[in-house]
Amino acid sequence: MAVLGIESTAHTASVGVVSDAAEILGLASDMYRPTKGGIHPREAANHHVEQLPGLVERAMEAAHLRPAEVEAIAFSQGPGLGPCLRAGATVARMLSLAWDRPLVPVNHCVAHVEIARILSGLDDPLLLYASGGNTQVIAYARGRYRVLGETLDIGIGNFLDKLWIELGGTFPGGPAIEAEAKNGRQLLPLPYSVHGMDVAFSGILTAALALDARGAARADLAYSVEVTTYAMLTEITERALAHRRRDTVVLGGGVACNERLRTMVRTMVEARGGTMFAPPRSLCVDNGAMIAWTGQLALRAGVTVPVEASAIEPRQRTDQVLAPWRSA
Ligand code: ATP
Ligand code: FE2
Repeated sequence: MAVLGIESTAHTASVGVVSDAAEILGLASDMYRPTKGGIHPREAANHHVEQLPGLVERAMEAAHLRPAEVEAIAFSQGPGLGPCLRAGATVARMLSLAWDRPLVPVNHCVAHVEIARILSGLDDPLLLYASGGNTQVIAYARGRYRVLGETLDIGIGNFLDKLWIELGGTFPGGPAIEAEAKNGRQLLPLPYSVHGMDVAFSGILTAALALDARGAARADLAYSVEVTTYAMLTEITERALAHRRRDTVVLGGGVACNERLRTMVRTMVEARGGTMFAPPRSLCVDNGAMIAWTGQLALRAGVTVPVEASAIEPRQRTDQVLAPWRSA
């Protein structure tokens, strides 16, 4: 039977309906786009409250299902922005009560791993999760997913968005920087900020803005920012692979849409004799299908939560939750 999943951690409100054979039966999404500056959590949450009921309808219509044919309601419990998470959780609780179906809490980061894992057919890959708010290298070990390395300050996507907005552009910055970078020729000096398995971006933001103030060509700046930061991500991914003696990597998060990042990670993994898989872009970015699919896995492992105990967890860590379907 199908599980309906609701995603609302940050910019994207999305509803997915996924079968127990991992078939995506319906998926409907709508992204909040700030008119200027970065995300306003309250405005984004209002967007999600307005959009989610219609998205549920569209996803169910696409799936050609009646509520009685849905086995459970899964929702993103965290991590994410409180008001945004609350909007999704409220809709999930309403459906759970109205349709009399169990509620399944899902960790958003784990959902990125699980959708990439099922699509790739890889059994135990490492995930490089590069999105707006998150930058982590994640792997499974002894009952849970663990964060092997991560950003020490802001997420890579937020870094790209902030930089682009400071340069006079609008959200989202990642795709605009990617387009600019295609014409870049010269590698400008930027700090390369890897600390063991971790990375940091705020110093690079300051340095890039200083280069801009000194008249650096926009295309060269975009190119240098991409090459420097994606090399950092590739390096920590390789270090994690070497430590774990593994050779498979999957990508997730909006920044994993980036062609240069995909190529750099693929080149590194293939040089080690391994395999790299990146989901289609619609499933790299935040989406309800990954929540529904992880909900399927969790439901089969008996993970459900009563409505009264279904509080959101804005700071939920990847390794705070169990992944009993992996050990089963
Ligand atoms: P979360 O951090 O909770 O996953 P999010 O709102 O950042 O949420 P995503 O959809 O995963 O959601 O990612 C959006 C980010 O991806 C934005 O920062 C955007 O600039 C970046 N992005 C999208 N496409 C590209 C691209 N082609 N190259 C680089 N960055 C990109
Ligand atoms: Fe995400």
